[in-house]
Amino acid sequence: MEKSNYVHIFDTTLRDGEQSPGATLTSAEKLEIARTLARLGVDVMEAGFPAASPDDLEGVRRIAVEVGNMAGPSGKPPIICGLARAASSDIDKAWQAVQFAARPRIHTFLATSAIHMKHKLRMDPEEVVDRVREMVSYAKGYCDDVEFSPEDAGRSDPEFLYLVLGEAIKAGATTLNIPDTVGYTTPDEFGSLIAGIMANTPGVEDVIVSVHCHDDLGLATANTLAGLAAGARQAEVTINGIGERAGNTSLEEVVMALQTRRPAYNLETGIDSTQITRVSRMVSNYTGIPVQPNKAIVGANAFAHEAGIHQDGMLKHHETYEIMRPEMVGLQRSSLVLGKHSGRHALKVRLSDMGYELTGEELQEAFERFKDLADKKKTITDADLAALITDQLYQPREVFALEGLQVACGTMGMPTATVRLTGPDGSEYIEAAIGTGPVDATYKAIDNIVQMPNCLLEFTVRAVTEGIDAIGEVTVRLEAENGDVHLRTSPQSGLIQPRTFGGHGADTDIIVASAKAYLSAINKLLVASGLYGEPEPMAEIALNGE
Ligand code: KIV
Ligand code: ZN
Repeated sequence: MEKSNYVHIFDTTLRDGEQSPGATLTSAEKLEIARTLARLGVDVMEAGFPAASPDDLEGVRRIAVEVGNMAGPSGKPPIICGLARAASSDIDKAWQAVQFAARPRIHTFLATSAIHMKHKLRMDPEEVVDRVREMVSYAKGYCDDVEFSPEDAGRSDPEFLYLVLGEAIKAGATTLNIPDTVGYTTPDEFGSLIAGIMANTPGVEDVIVSVHCHDDLGLATANTLAGLAAGARQAEVTINGIGERAGNTSLEEVVMALQTRRPAYNLETGIDSTQITRVSRMVSNYTGIPVQPNKAIVGANAFAHEAGIHQDGMLKHHETYEIMRPEMVGLQRSSLVLGKHSGRHALKVRLSDMGYELTGEELQEAFERFKDLADKKKTITDADLAALITDQLYQPREVFALEGLQVACGTMGMPTATVRLTGPDGSEYIEAAIGTGPVDATYKAIDNIVQMPNCLLEFTVRAVTEGIDAIGEVTVRLEAENGDVHLRTSPQSGLIQPRTFGGHGADTDIIVASAKAYLSAINKLLVASGLYGEPEPMAEIALNGE
């Protein structure tokens, strides 16, 4: 295969990213993220691990049907990939899910490090080689495009890797992915590992070598870049770097490093970087995993130049402290955008500049929310608009909806909340409760109505902009109290874990934002538990004889 300078971006937000503690997504959310990833221009999307549960299989299948046939910026639909352990039943399920995509891929993996072979697989190296040969050719029976990963390659014997990878190529693998599963290697070591594979694996010139790094030592991006410099041409990444434990390499860091340091790497991707901020927000809102303020590229402070001396330098010449323009990742500079007197058309144009194309109905709702906000807040920035729009668009199906909230709190009495909700049948419920503070009282009042026992695992609040009238954004994560709603199997550890549900809410009143966030997580839990509503609508598909 001719060595080009094009790096294929393989996004695994919906698979490895979703393995982050607490990052469970509903299948409607996965579909929405998948559509956005396709617009972002990812070449391959790992849509999930279909053997994890029937829900996971269904989620991947919906993405294959709907996004796997939707042209991305290159004009071609993205490749839709399903993960499978090296077992025929997993591969069958992966194929059942991805076969509807115009460009399907099966990704199978088996560990090759001494520690994994001995303690996890309890297989000797010869058995591992045989299984790889067998399972890659089994997957090939279904699909031309087969990716193989030697799990824990970072700690595997390189000579053994050359042998296993050579056998995988002979059995039909078209992409060889090299994972640093536990984030152990350093950039020098990982770069040398890839260089060794490029030089010593029989048949490697006919396949794409890929890198997949974890961030346990904070080296994932550095290792990925070292692997690309050594000849790999696919990078496996996630949005915001979410993933198992400390996470995976983040898409935004790799893409912007290649773009900003073009002369250093001489590599390019097909990513439209101006979509990055938007996708990052969507993933954070849907997963309930906030982005740390100092996170490279997408953190709230990534483009804030607050220290006085920096500002002075910035005013003289922006390149004094800025290596990338915020516009390159979809952040607009303007601080005062619209005000109380702005009309619907001005809002539409502004939102469209920010990358939000709304239907007539969505625009009407956005306009009402905007007017409401403009009554409370004098200056409305792009950050405010983004919070308002994500709050409107990226919400789960409403089982219970917030109609009213009143709280009394402070040092003079018991914090009390009165909550009014409409339920699934349209009836109205009102409850009051006392708590340790206004949020606790509000959540107790909601619990009294909804009656869905749960454990709140995380609660975060942040201000979208500076100023006392700023919008507050709240994210929460919770799980069912009995913990057995939608159990799913981890592809790597085999552990069966309960699902957790994230929720997000934004409002100038942080108690209202807290109530919205809690309700959005509870609504997901209620839908997942099958207590309310029909399953999410499934697209019309030809089921190929199933
Ligand atoms: O980190 C890892 O090894 C993986 C494999 C399944 C590719 O995620
Ligand atoms: Zn991984």
